[in-house]
Amino acid sequence: MASRLAASLALFFLLASVAVLIAVAVVQVHKRTYESAGLRFGIVLDAGSSRTTLYLYQWPAEKENNTGVVSQTLNCMVDGVPISSLGQNSSLDQMSWSSLKNCVAQAREIIPPSLHSITPIFLGATAGMRLLRSQNETASDEILQSLENYLKSLPFDFRNASIISGAEEGLYGWITANYLMGNFLERNMWNEWLHPQGAKTIGSMDLGGASTQIAFTTPIEEGASAEGYTRVRLYGYNYNVYTHSFLCYGKNEAHKKVLAALVLAQKPSKTVENPCFPVDYSTTMSAADIFGSPCTETPQDYDPDQQLHLVGTGDPARCRAVVRTIFDLESCRGQANCSFNGVYQPALSGHFLAYAGFYYTANALKLNSSFTLDSFNSTVFAFCSKNWTTLIANYEIREKYLSAYCYSSNYVYNLLVEGYKFTAETWNNIIFKKKVENSNIAWSLGYMLTTSNMIPAEPKRLWLPMDNSVFAGLLFVFSSLAILSLMFLIISLVRVCY
Ligand SMILES: *[C@@H]1O[C@H](CO)[C@@H](O)[C@H](O)[C@H]1NC(C)=O
Ligand SMILES: *[C@@H]1O[C@H](CO)[C@@H](O)[C@H](O)[C@H]1NC(C)=O
Ligand SMILES: *[C@@H]1O[C@H](CO)[C@@H](O)[C@H](O)[C@H]1NC(C)=O
Ligand SMILES: *[C@@H]1O[C@H](CO)[C@@H](O)[C@H](O)[C@H]1NC(C)=O
Ligand SMILES: *[C@@H]1O[C@H](CO)[C@@H](O)[C@H](O)[C@H]1NC(C)=O
Ligand SMILES: *[C@@H]1O[C@H](CO)[C@@H](O)[C@H](O)[C@H]1NC(C)=O
Ligand SMILES: *[C@@H]1O[C@H](CO)[C@@H](O)[C@H](O)[C@H]1NC(C)=O
Ligand SMILES: *[C@@H]1O[C@H](CO)[C@@H](O)[C@H](O)[C@H]1NC(C)=O
Repeated sequence: MASRLAASLALFFLLASVAVLIAVAVVQVHKRTYESAGLRFGIVLDAGSSRTTLYLYQWPAEKENNTGVVSQTLNCMVDGVPISSLGQNSSLDQMSWSSLKNCVAQAREIIPPSLHSITPIFLGATAGMRLLRSQNETASDEILQSLENYLKSLPFDFRNASIISGAEEGLYGWITANYLMGNFLERNMWNEWLHPQGAKTIGSMDLGGASTQIAFTTPIEEGASAEGYTRVRLYGYNYNVYTHSFLCYGKNEAHKKVLAALVLAQKPSKTVENPCFPVDYSTTMSAADIFGSPCTETPQDYDPDQQLHLVGTGDPARCRAVVRTIFDLESCRGQANCSFNGVYQPALSGHFLAYAGFYYTANALKLNSSFTLDSFNSTVFAFCSKNWTTLIANYEIREKYLSAYCYSSNYVYNLLVEGYKFTAETWNNIIFKKKVENSNIAWSLGYMLTTSNMIPAEPKRLWLPMDNSVFAGLLFVFSSLAILSLMFLIISLVRVCY
């Protein structure tokens, strides 16, 4: 009687274990195949002041709200003019539009046709268009409208084509940097996403053509001046992000300010000595190239067609000094929390990612991602002291850009040291980087994640799919149970028969 009960129990465990094994395997395998098939895509056009770039992002569909799953699959640079210069020269317009269409066609090739209608497409214009809007709002509206009409004619899910503010640009850059660095969430052993213990975020510094942004969190959460702070809630955690965008302090517009200072100081000479250009280098510019920008003050008796001859003298100390004059350091003097031009800035804290123009400048000088302030200074001095022949022979950079790197490296020096107040010590916390894995550090990713709610304010509890160790554990326990039951049954059977 007792052995019959035991045999029935063993049979029950055997059948139950086999059923559980089959169920677990089916769920896990099914989940796997579904995952690899379910990709989603998103397109962001970053309409910058020097060019437009198309970014194509992809992620697994059902992991949409997790962190670190979005990656960049395409980065297509549009040739021709930036969108803020559209409508000025019809042959350049034509070239820019056909290059834009070519980038869109490349994205279209990659995205499966069945997903086109659910692929969001955004266009965000930055400082180049902010400046145009300040000069001629009709012109900037017309340009955005023509781009919107084009984007709406595509098979994608059109979302937005507008000028984003400097504060938004800074915040989205900060979100991108921290998303790519995995600073928002981490997985615990139960496969849940958690806020990392003692989590630190990284600051973000972006240098574009027409503006530059800085964004970082400060340890002083409450009570700090509200000026310049944005509160964001991501995955259930609050961040107090300080951000500021300096319009006209991008690499190209700041260069015009420097050239304007040199031209005005040597007036009325049409030959202008430039300590930021290398020895043996000279170039001709029209006055409009410098003074036509809203970032420079129009001089008296301004003639836009006047030709100016700029001659390089390759003098790093004088270059540093003239670049410094474009920063208003007086209005911050004696104040603890102030960067330049009278702008509030809390004390720098934590590490910083310096990307875009910061990275290109360091890279042009053959510097790695981290270096001391001292070695930056001496590298800049050595670079600026080389004559044009030596530069051309030693650096594989297009001549148009090569001639400007003495200026831009001194600009970066002044902006970070005199402007943001990095010291020899805090400088070591700066990482000059362009990409994380395959994704560019750029505001565009943070913009897409935020505006399509892919970074939810509250964390979602996730239990499935099981991770491999849990899956293996279940297989082991139930396989063992099945084998033990089977052995017991065989032994019982043998006993009964004899
Ligand atoms: C992601 O979160 C948003 C907002 O909370 C929600 O509408 C959306 O359905 C979620 N997506 C997935 C795949 O869970
Ligand atoms: C337009 O741009 C092209 C190419 O840069 C130039 O050759 C042409 O002179 C420009 N036309 C006008 C009207 O400015
Ligand atoms: C502003 O732009 C419009 C459209 O491009 C143009 O017709 C107009 O002349 C411009 N106005 C000024 C003041 O430049
Ligand atoms: C488009 O983006 C701008 C700037 O980020 C925002 O102000 C506007 O509300 C957005 N429009 C729509 C329809 O989402
Ligand atoms: C200004 O900076 C000091 C230290 O540099 C800091 O203690 C203080 O809290 C800051 N003030 C504000 C309003 O952030
Ligand atoms: C940069 O890194 C490379 C390899 O890691 C090294 O060979 C080179 O010396 C470094 N350059 C500088 C300027 O530190
Ligand atoms: C930068 O380097 C130059 C040349 O090595 C030196 O003369 C100058 O004092 C340095 N400047 C600073 C601020 O360290
Ligand atoms: C440029 O500098 C190199 C190295 O210092 C020197 O050999 C060369 O003569 C210079 N060229 C001119 C044209 O001065």
